[in-house]
Amino acid sequence: MNLADLTTFRVGGPAPHLMTVRSRSELVDCCSRHRLQPDRPDRSVPDVLFVGGGSNLLIADEGFTGPACVIRSTGIDERPAGTGQRLLTVEAGENWDAFVASTLRRGLTGLEALSGIPGSVGATPIQNVGAYGAEVAESIDSVLAFDRITGEQLRFGAQDLGFGYRTSMFKRTAAEHGAVRFVVLAVTFRLPEATMSAPVRYSQLARALGVEIGARVSACEVREAVLALRASKGMVLDDADHDTWSAGSFFTNPILPADAVLPEDAPRYPVTDPLTGAQDPAVVKTSAAWLIDHAGFAKGFGIGDRRATLSTKHTLALTNRGDASTADLLELARRIRDGVEGIFGIRLEPEPNLVGCRL
Ligand code: EPU
Repeated sequence: MNLADLTTFRVGGPAPHLMTVRSRSELVDCCSRHRLQPDRPDRSVPDVLFVGGGSNLLIADEGFTGPACVIRSTGIDERPAGTGQRLLTVEAGENWDAFVASTLRRGLTGLEALSGIPGSVGATPIQNVGAYGAEVAESIDSVLAFDRITGEQLRFGAQDLGFGYRTSMFKRTAAEHGAVRFVVLAVTFRLPEATMSAPVRYSQLARALGVEIGARVSACEVREAVLALRASKGMVLDDADHDTWSAGSFFTNPILPADAVLPEDAPRYPVTDPLTGAQDPAVVKTSAAWLIDHAGFAKGFGIGDRRATLSTKHTLALTNRGDASTADLLELARRIRDGVEGIFGIRLEPEPNLVGCRL
């Protein structure tokens, strides 16, 4: 099996020891057979590769020689949760966008702004997926995970998961071990029964809907508008469109001290706690796409024979034009990171998980 067939970048190399798990119990078996040794001598290569939707992975061209586990567990359990709310427990391998669409059919809201995001449900809490003014953390009740060190199954409440902008306790722990310690088995969402969306919080989305920020519209309308916005930026997977052969945003939006020197016209967004909504006055978030554009890298920018280029629709997405290698993508990423750092003194950090390779 070639990992290029399992990632949205369509690169990755061979994985001779690949297995696919199709239920929670198969996933638990796989984790039990491959426990994490906390004192591994070489932490530069993960011990097991877990693959969900493959939309946030950049894997070395050499592939992955260790065990690789493709998570395709399915199932959604719905139950009432007090007045006007439902709890949905969703297995990790369910497709994220199919699940979002099903919440709207069930008359539930909260996830509509997160429509059209590629990937699996189990991956969403790890990097606290967010878009168009919403973050998945706001809708999570708890997460069931397998601890590969102790062998226990643990349920974490949302407040115990240390959610922040594109991060969580899961992501921090993985960075600490150079490997996945907690494997997400299932995610429980708490969603209100409603047909109107939460107030629209993102100006581009408000413009697309023709309403003011703070307005409420039907959740289905929000989904349609978000899908159209994402498609216009090459952020909806389409085999025929190389602008979508990407991992979405390649860099995170930099979070800087509030008094950092930025060009006057650079975007400045508040940083808020996803659970309390409280603003952190000490920091400000700017736009990686804006920095890349203003460092002179236009949409479609490429180097060498242009096998890898920036998307022609959004400067924040690196794309495979058809026959790019991981090395091509990394070379382009370094050029962009170094170019932005040279001009603005801000070092962009990659958003996808890099496996067996580094920037
Ligand atoms: N901009 C440019 N050039 C571009 C595109 C954007 O200068 O080519 C500037 C504009 O000033 C624009 C600003 O960047 O107003 C923000 O752009 P956009 O609204 O597209 O958002 P983003 O910061 O580029 C983030 C998320 C996306 C998410 C969108 C929409 C990150 C790293 N990315 O992108 O998430 O869909 O907001 O909410 O936070 C992903 O994580 O993979 C992802 C696609």
